[in-house]
Amino acid sequence: MGVVMAVPRHVACVMDGNGRWAAQRSLPRTAGHEAAEAAVMDVIEAARSSGVSWLSLYAFSTENWRRPSGEVDILMRLVRRAIRKHAPVLHTRGIRCRFLGMTDPRIPAPLVQDITDLMTLTRDNKRMTLTVAFDHGGRRDIVEAARSLIRSSTPADQVTEASFAEHLPYADTPDVDLVIRTSGEQRISNFMLWQVAYAEWVFPKVLWPDFRAAHFCECLDAYLRRQRRFGDVSPATMTGKGLR
Ligand code: IPE
Ligand code: IPE
Ligand code: MG
Repeated sequence: MGVVMAVPRHVACVMDGNGRWAAQRSLPRTAGHEAAEAAVMDVIEAARSSGVSWLSLYAFSTENWRRPSGEVDILMRLVRRAIRKHAPVLHTRGIRCRFLGMTDPRIPAPLVQDITDLMTLTRDNKRMTLTVAFDHGGRRDIVEAARSLIRSSTPADQVTEASFAEHLPYADTPDVDLVIRTSGEQRISNFMLWQVAYAEWVFPKVLWPDFRAAHFCECLDAYLRRQRRFGDVSPATMTGKGLR
């Protein structure tokens, strides 16, 4: 009588532990950010080849601006370098790339340009949508949606969860099915708050720079063993009920 769970449609990763990875090696924190690139590329390929259609990666939060400016500068430079290096392969592999957040004027203009170019290059790709949450805050997205809704002059009694969600950035993004947060920390840190409402969570101890396809597959296995009920008494199948 087992319920058949399918591969999660939308997997999101809170890529945490770069600083601790570097500290363990007596290296500067930024060495951890540099080492994170290999994990990112491995996970993108693992998700794609597992049949995940939506992958979201938390790369920089609205709160991460609090970090020392030297660390932030190097992070921005590393992201730019990675985009320039991997854009062709992401495109060849049929990955549509989008960046969620991206409103702060402190993001360097050349990086904004490279991100725009990557989004334009890959916009018609169909195999998987990669959303990089960059200068992202879940609460900010909800506030922005509220502003947009008010501007649309929707009468209050016509506001529903579904109509509200249409005002979120990238409103076509489905709810997150599985969140992976590496490094053992167990908190949301303001990540895609609306979209994770009914996600399953796993907290592998491994630090992000060491995270590889095999770890990703273990997380998918853990997900497949879960029973999702969405408040009901019997488990829902993947094709069945979600929140929306
Ligand atoms: C995650 O690693 C990367 C970003 C938040 C940009 P951290 O830099 O948070 O690493 P820890 O948590 O200090 O180990
Ligand atoms: C969350 O990690 C943000 C990213 C992974 C980009 P943090 O390391 O910044 O979160 P806290 O400070 O532990 O909540
Ligand atoms: Mg951290």
